[in-house]
Amino acid sequence: MGISAPAKSYHLTTFGCQMNQHDSERMQGMLESLGWTATEKQVNADLILFNTCSIREKADEKLIQYLYEARMVKRQRPETIIGVGGCWAQSVKEEVFRRFPFVDVAFGPGQVDKLAEFLNSDSLSAQGYFEFEGFTGHLPQRKEKTHSAWVQISVGCNCNCSYCIVPSTRGREASRPSEELVTEVSELVAAGVKEVTLLGQNVNSYGRDLQDGGKTTFSGLLRELDSIDGLRRLRYTSPHPKDMKEDVVLAHAELESVCAHIHLPLQAGSTSVLKAMRRTYTRERYLERVDMIRASLPDVSITTDIIVGFPGETEADFEETIEVVQEVGFDGAFTFIFSPRRGTLAASLPDSVPHDEKVARMQRLLPVVQRCALERAQRFVGRELEVLVEGTSRTDDARLRGRTSGSKVVNFDGLATPGDLVTVLIEEASSLTLGGTQVLAELSS
Ligand code: SAH
Ligand code: SF4
Ligand code: F3S
Repeated sequence: MGISAPAKSYHLTTFGCQMNQHDSERMQGMLESLGWTATEKQVNADLILFNTCSIREKADEKLIQYLYEARMVKRQRPETIIGVGGCWAQSVKEEVFRRFPFVDVAFGPGQVDKLAEFLNSDSLSAQGYFEFEGFTGHLPQRKEKTHSAWVQISVGCNCNCSYCIVPSTRGREASRPSEELVTEVSELVAAGVKEVTLLGQNVNSYGRDLQDGGKTTFSGLLRELDSIDGLRRLRYTSPHPKDMKEDVVLAHAELESVCAHIHLPLQAGSTSVLKAMRRTYTRERYLERVDMIRASLPDVSITTDIIVGFPGETEADFEETIEVVQEVGFDGAFTFIFSPRRGTLAASLPDSVPHDEKVARMQRLLPVVQRCALERAQRFVGRELEVLVEGTSRTDDARLRGRTSGSKVVNFDGLATPGDLVTVLIEEASSLTLGGTQVLAELSS
């Protein structure tokens, strides 16, 4: 089957983290620069494309279901191209063609540009591209939002967390030069972007691989970007607690655009579990980092990721996680049940915690997380906060929705358009959202 017709349509489904969503914007940009147009329905598409994730088993299962749906389309229209990119594709590599023979092209996160090569070729056979090279940040982009943007500052991860598939799907860490990032952010701001989120698997180790004698650092990058006129909000995800040092905290304190939110993935509260996870910090070290952050940034929001049911996690270990959650008082947390991933060290450890026990621990953890988040959110009630407007409230068409510097969603009564920065008086708080009323500036005559 040759692929030569111009102006065809594609349908893209994205799974996974913000990095994958950003990669998808680049995939779309690239396809559109080649003359492809997006279509809403998979059944109409000449190219059915998936940008995949493999972080937990559920992500895999969901994708496989979607793939079989795509096969149905291909049975009706055999000329349909099925493409699979991203982390899952990388983790199964050529095996994808044996397991799913209807797939035409597969590529890892570092090979998005090869999709173009495939589409422009007259290839008759299925192709896989799995080298680690290239930043998607170099490709054309099709952005969904006009006032917010993601910027990829690094790819890959040099950590060795024993449960995690990411180092094998995204390769060794590689940073983009800071001049290139300053140019990219300046261009985004000139085009109307007010908020930029810097992306990397381990953003705060940014620059270490550049071998310039330590000249390029994450906090240095924050400083350079903050000086760009018109950039109102600077965020980043995800940092690693081991690299959350004074210089980054100082950048938060001194730089106006850097948001009042730090995501600090804990994973577990017990030092022995942390050791088995190869997180390279202890419970005490983590708590010291939190103290250091709170000493300089008393109002900053701290959120986290937690895994329950890691192999070998005892009842006492789990209770330590609950203790740390209470001691820190997180503003929010993503909680996950441990999922063994192929090729990881933790997948070969005896999975000692029965599934029901994992679920029971999760059910004990969630209310603690919610209570802490609610308590923390109460501090905003009665205060006037700056909110970046995102659109209409998801629960009430008559209200607006936006986000605070601390990353809380606010539903409020007001008059504004997406992209506006407005002041909102906070009147109520739940564990996930705030509610309030816009403070309208007095009209001057
Ligand atoms: N690089 C980021 C994000 C990693 S993935 C970081 O280090 O923070 C996001 C979260 O998924 C992780 O923080 C972890 O809590 C969770 N996760 C990763 N692998 C997992 C696994 N095998 N089982 C359950 N949760 C996992
Ligand atoms: Fe995975 Fe750990 Fe790297 Fe995060 S820091 S991507 S959890 S290996
Ligand atoms: Fe998933 Fe890859 Fe992101 S495994 S969470 S898409 S880095």
